[in-house]
Amino acid sequence: MMAMDEAVRQPGAAPVVLRLDRLRKEYRPGLPVLKDITLDFDKSGVTAIIGPSGTGKSTLIRCVNRLVDPTSGSIWFEGADIAQVRGSALRAVRRRIGMVFQEYNLVERLTVMENILTGRLGYVPLWRAYLRRFAEQDIARAFELLESVGLGADFANRRADKLSGGQRQRVGIARAIMQSPALVLADEPTSSLDPKTSVEIMELLADISAKQSIPVIVNIHNVELAKRYARRIVGMTGGNVVYDGKPDGLTAQHLSEIYGGEEWQ
Ligand SMILES: Nc1ncnc2c1ncn2[C@@H]1O[C@H](COP(=O)(O)OP(=O)(O)O)[C@@H](O)[C@H]1O
Ligand SMILES: [Mg+2]
Repeated sequence: MMAMDEAVRQPGAAPVVLRLDRLRKEYRPGLPVLKDITLDFDKSGVTAIIGPSGTGKSTLIRCVNRLVDPTSGSIWFEGADIAQVRGSALRAVRRRIGMVFQEYNLVERLTVMENILTGRLGYVPLWRAYLRRFAEQDIARAFELLESVGLGADFANRRADKLSGGQRQRVGIARAIMQSPALVLADEPTSSLDPKTSVEIMELLADISAKQSIPVIVNIHNVELAKRYARRIVGMTGGNVVYDGKPDGLTAQHLSEIYGGEEWQ
């Protein structure tokens, strides 16, 4: 470990929302992709996870929302170790974790409003979900979110497949926040977007994180974007964390260690 930002880890600081304790993942026995990762995440701001392709960034995120089963270690979230939970307990955990995807994962033939409301599906009875009958307060909240992601009520009845990439990602973010999550995970949320739209989406994630006090963990390729919008950078290489600290502490030397090569000097 090359750097450890004391401000991030000070005892008595903001309560920890998520704690990974020696988290290990082996897809094939004896070949760990995550090598006993230990990280705490508190309530404030965006944490960017950077590192080369294949280093385990997506695996880390998928372990937390349990799309992937960790091999060993703990994932403390809302007072429980969720590393091995199943069934209804797992569904309850997933309600509390909003996901934002590279390819948006919207239901293309549904409207913007319907897509945002699917963020409530974990909360409403199945028959109401099936009939797409949502409570008035949920609909009111969805309209609020539509505004706060910068789309506005005009978009409510547009079909998802008629939107641009940036607009889709705004809907994806609104859907995630509609869940009332305690944590948001975003796996390469800007990788399908042009540079200008990427900036806007990172700005939106940082804004929502700050205003709603939701920690956001973002896997991101673009180091400049990470440095600009994250309050903490976690640099991974080969399944290990090799940098954990503030963006302005991340030097060319750290980047060489994370990505290899000399081109950062
Ligand atoms: N479902 C899987 N089964 C087997 N190997 C996988 C699976 N998912 C990812 N891997 C492997 O784990 C390593 C880390 O992948 P990933 O977490 O996707 O990295 P990153 O997101 O940093 O690019 C890679 O070598 C990848 O091939
Ligand atoms: Mg990935």
